[in-house]
This record gives sequence, structure tokens and C-alpha cells, in this order.
Amino acid sequence: MGPDRTHPAPGAAVRVGVVGMGIRGRMYAAIAQALPEVELTGVCDIAEDARLAAADEFAVPVFEDVQTMCEQAGPEAVVIATPDFAHVGPTLAAIEAGRHVLVEKPLATEVDAARRICDAAEAAGIRGMVAFENHWNPPLSAMKSAAEAGQLGELVSCNSQLDDRIDVPTEYLRWLGRSSPGWFLMSHTVELAGWIAGQRPVEVQARGHTGVLSALGLETYDAIHAVVVFDGGMVGSFSSCWVLPRSLPLAFQFRHEMVGTGGSARADLTDQMLHLAAERYEHPATIGVTMGGSLSSPPALMFAEFVRALAEGRDPPCPLGDGLLNVAAIAAIHSSIETRRAVEVRV
Ligand SMILES: NC(=O)c1ccc[n+]([C@@H]2O[C@H](COP(=O)([O-])OP(=O)(O)OC[C@H]3O[C@@H](n4cnc5c(N)ncnc54)[C@H](O)[C@@H]3O)[C@@H](O)[C@H]2O)c1
Repeated sequence: MGPDRTHPAPGAAVRVGVVGMGIRGRMYAAIAQALPEVELTGVCDIAEDARLAAADEFAVPVFEDVQTMCEQAGPEAVVIATPDFAHVGPTLAAIEAGRHVLVEKPLATEVDAARRICDAAEAAGIRGMVAFENHWNPPLSAMKSAAEAGQLGELVSCNSQLDDRIDVPTEYLRWLGRSSPGWFLMSHTVELAGWIAGQRPVEVQARGHTGVLSALGLETYDAIHAVVVFDGGMVGSFSSCWVLPRSLPLAFQFRHEMVGTGGSARADLTDQMLHLAAERYEHPATIGVTMGGSLSSPPALMFAEFVRALAEGRDPPCPLGDGLLNVAAIAAIHSSIETRRAVEVRV
């Protein structure tokens, strides 16, 4: 048995373990190793090739399951970066071992499972956060500040589009056939609108399109459109599609607009201000590049805030309860597509 510290000692580095050594998990492990206030004590993956690659890349103990990682590597906090449909098991295992958790969005893909996570965290007295990283995305954070300063007045309308190129579900993340544009993409935008407006989603109407990805063996929606009503009266229109052509210069499109009685704000993260024409024409991602070794990307800022909250003994932002509400909203969107009716958001 290794050390069993579940609460960071004052001034000591926060000990962190990461579950899922894919794109996001490796990113968190790299961020953890770059932050002096964090010690990466172990990582975990069910796939042997991912474990071997991680052992090479991070030179820390590598485990096959969360329980063993918690027992032997003694992390105080665990980051869950497994596929959308595989957050619940590792999250509950980490909570049962008494570790604080940072869970990738969506918290779960079923409301009951998300509620189980919240209940378990409360019973265990651990701190939890859901990775809604757009809170740390500069243009969107500035939009939130403008709304909080009253510059937009009372928020009445939102238009949000977050899409991916077709190679994201068909080549990069084949497991997305078990997810949807609702879970993978719209979970971001519905949460973002509610956070900026300070309003909770209460009712949805949605429609979806199938056929393109199912013809390629991925049984999921190609596109989802949803109208969401919030408790302060704001109405929002959200669209997410992940069959955009490969010829687009960036892997995603992201446009988010909020309209209020006093003003409006619109962010377009599709064009990241650099147009690069070399071997091929690209709009490389520029928000959040590492400059001079400093980590300035939204997930790095978010992760730093998570560990700072733990070190200071306070709850981090984006609590698990917000993740539960988000799961309820996205589940209601899927239910509305299936029933072709308006569906209430129930947690
Ligand atoms: N917050 C954001 O902006 C953002 C951006 C991209 C992805 N994500 C989310 O991050 C999560 C991970 O995405 P990814 O792109 O890294 O996927 P990925 O496929 O690259 O990596 C997932 C890894 O988890 C491993 N895994 C699966 N089940 C496991 C289990 N039970 N225990 C341990 N390891 C397990 C897989 O073997 C794989 O190595 C997803 O939920 C995704 O929606 C969030």
C-alpha cells in the first residue's frame, strides 16, 4: 500500500493520477508534470498499448485500473479522461477510494448515473469538478465578464454552433459512434449559455439527422438542432454537426452569440486569426498554444484552478451538480428527438 493522503498538506504539491491515456488524458498528464504545484503520481488505461506509450512518455507508474492506481500511487485527486460512455465506473471508483475528481464532460450519458456520481461524492465528502473548459477560453470568459458587468442587459437569446469535421468521428475517435453530437459537442454549448446568462435550462425541443455516419458503421446522429428554454426566460438555439468536410482548414467550427436587452456579444473561434498556407491550407489552433514553456490553454488554466482549489481547501468551480444538470439537458434533447415533443429538463 502506498500513501493514502486524500487532502493535500499545506504547501505540498497536489498528488494527481490520470485515468485514460488518450488525447485528453495525455494532455492532462503533461500539464500536471509542467506545473510545480502538482505531482503526477500515476496514470491508468485499460489498453496495453496506451499503458506502454504512457510509461515511456511520463516515466511514472502505470496501472490497469483505477482502484490499484489509488492504492499504490496515492493520488489525492484523479482526472477522468475516458470516452464519454466510460466516465461513470472510473469516477465512482476514484470517489469510493476517497479521491477528489476532475471529470471530462459530459459527466455521464445517463441522468441516473450522473446522479449516482453526485450522491457518492457528497457521501464521501470529496470535491468534484466537470471539465467545462470554455470558462477559461479567453473570448468566452470575456463574454461572461461583459454579461456580469451588465453590459448585455437581461439576456433574451442565444445562438450557438459547435461542429466537427467528419474525420473526428470517423478517424480520430471511433468510439464517438457510441456518443452523439449532443454528448460530445452540445454539452459544451448548452452549459456555456447557461453559465454566461446565469440561467438553468428547463425545457427543450430538438431534431436530429441520421444516415451519413450510420452508412459508415457509426450508429449515431450526424447533426442535432435544439431549442432550449432557460429559467430566466432566455431562449437558445443550438446546433452541432460532425460531418463537416475534411477540406475545412480547422477540425471544428465554433460560433457563440448571446443577445440581451442592453447589447449582444458574438465570439467566432472558427477563425483563430492565423491563416497558414504551406503544404496545405490551414487555420491552426492558436488559442492556448504554449508560449515560452507557459501553459496558457483553456484546459491548462482549468486544471490549474482545480488543483489550486484543492490546495486551498475550497470547492472548485464547475461542480458535479452542474454536470448533472448538463447531463439532464442533453438527455432531454435526445428524448425530444425520439419523441418529437418538448421535454422538460429534470435532474
Ligand atoms: N473538455 C473538452 O473540451 C474536451 C475536448 C475533447 C474531448 N473531451 C472529452 O474527453 C474524454 C476523452 O476523450 P479523448 O479524446 O481523450 O479520447 P481517446 O479515445 O483519445 O482516449 C480515451 C482513453 O481512455 C481509455 N479507456 C477507456 N475506458 C477506460 C477505463 N475504464 N479505464 C481506463 N482507461 C480507459 C482508452 O483506452 C483510451 O486510451 C471524452 O469524454 C471527450 O468527450 C473533452
